[in-house]
Amino acid sequence: MGNLALNGGTPVRVKPFPVWPERSSRQIEMMKEVYDSDKWGVGSPFIAEFEKRFAEFHHAKYGQAIMNGTAALWVAFKACGVSTGDEVITSPYTFIATGSAVLMANGVPVFVDIDPDTYNIDPAKIEAAITDKTKAIAAVHIAGSPADMDAICAIAKKHDLAVIEDAAQAHGAEWKGRRVGAIGDVGTFSFQSTKNMCAGEGGICVSDDEGVIDRCHSYANCGRIRGGKWYEHRVLGSNCRMPAICAGILLAQFDQIEDQMARRDRNARVLTELLSGIDGIEPLELHAGATRSAWHLYIFRYKAEAFGGAPRAKFIDAMCAEGINVGSGYVPLYREELFQVDPEDYPWLEGRDYRALSLPVCENACDNESVWLFQSQLLGDESDMHDIAAAVRKIKDSAGELK
Ligand SMILES: Cc1ncc(COP(=O)(O)O)c(C=O)c1O
Repeated sequence: MGNLALNGGTPVRVKPFPVWPERSSRQIEMMKEVYDSDKWGVGSPFIAEFEKRFAEFHHAKYGQAIMNGTAALWVAFKACGVSTGDEVITSPYTFIATGSAVLMANGVPVFVDIDPDTYNIDPAKIEAAITDKTKAIAAVHIAGSPADMDAICAIAKKHDLAVIEDAAQAHGAEWKGRRVGAIGDVGTFSFQSTKNMCAGEGGICVSDDEGVIDRCHSYANCGRIRGGKWYEHRVLGSNCRMPAICAGILLAQFDQIEDQMARRDRNARVLTELLSGIDGIEPLELHAGATRSAWHLYIFRYKAEAFGGAPRAKFIDAMCAEGINVGSGYVPLYREELFQVDPEDYPWLEGRDYRALSLPVCENACDNESVWLFQSQLLGDESDMHDIAAAVRKIKDSAGELK
């Protein structure tokens, strides 16, 4: 028997972390109000109110509710004019939807490596990837940490490109004091079960540009035109509408989100302080312009050298055994089976072969370094952060046992 729980020792923690989602009686009341109304979908005032409030919350002029974050991305790409063969520059360190939605719009995802300190797209590498086919940059605010929007928007302006913000993980996040989403041309959010606002499923596009949001409305409404006739369809849209019951439950969450954001901010600050003192553990940094993260994930970098060379997988097993659920996160998007195919499978890629792509910073993050904690683990009290740090320290002190 060893000291580590992995080897039969006593775990640092047996107490569960806070349960997500945090339910409230207001959520039940709002769902009941929707249930009692005679519009459960199209034309529901709850959907219109949610669009307005979420747009305001994100310092945007307009919102278009969507059925999920993946569809919101597809709608946003279409609304920005992405079409067959158009290239969209994006990060390889993200959920599959950022890349697959480009493909679904018949576009070509072009992956650019990430910044090793923030895991967001590295703006210094974007210009080299621009060609005469580039149509847009899809910036992802990974983990809720805002990407460098000043640099991205400046490059986009110089080359006349659209900017789409994939803010699926970034509810309430701020770039230089402005909430993300409508800093570029259009931003998308997800309300899937694990997200910082959630309705089981759901999404939204936000924008300051009325033309863009009208086009989002069309693509999400079977190609109808806002204000047009019911049977009048101009573009190849789909039905991507949000059900009113989701809008109801999300409206109730505006009563909770500020307090949840403040708790995550507080605990993330404490955790960063505690982990920063441990050799071989490096919390990701926020860009200097990122004035607030949504802390959808709390990511730190694991340096195997400081743990006697033990691979990250062993460290993660040891953390889980100590009662701290952590994960290793993504693989580089281009290594997903979806992209590991003969280019002939997607004729509009014109021979682009993702099997030949290698982006070293992203690969190091995915293969060796990144360790994820999840937003709900930041919703308890400070003692939870001490438990997380205590587990890391215990594993470090007994690193010999990881062999
Ligand atoms: C970065 C990112 N983009 C897009 C999505 C897609 O959102 P959804 O699951 O609502 O389709 C997610 C959510 O999982 C995400 O994390």
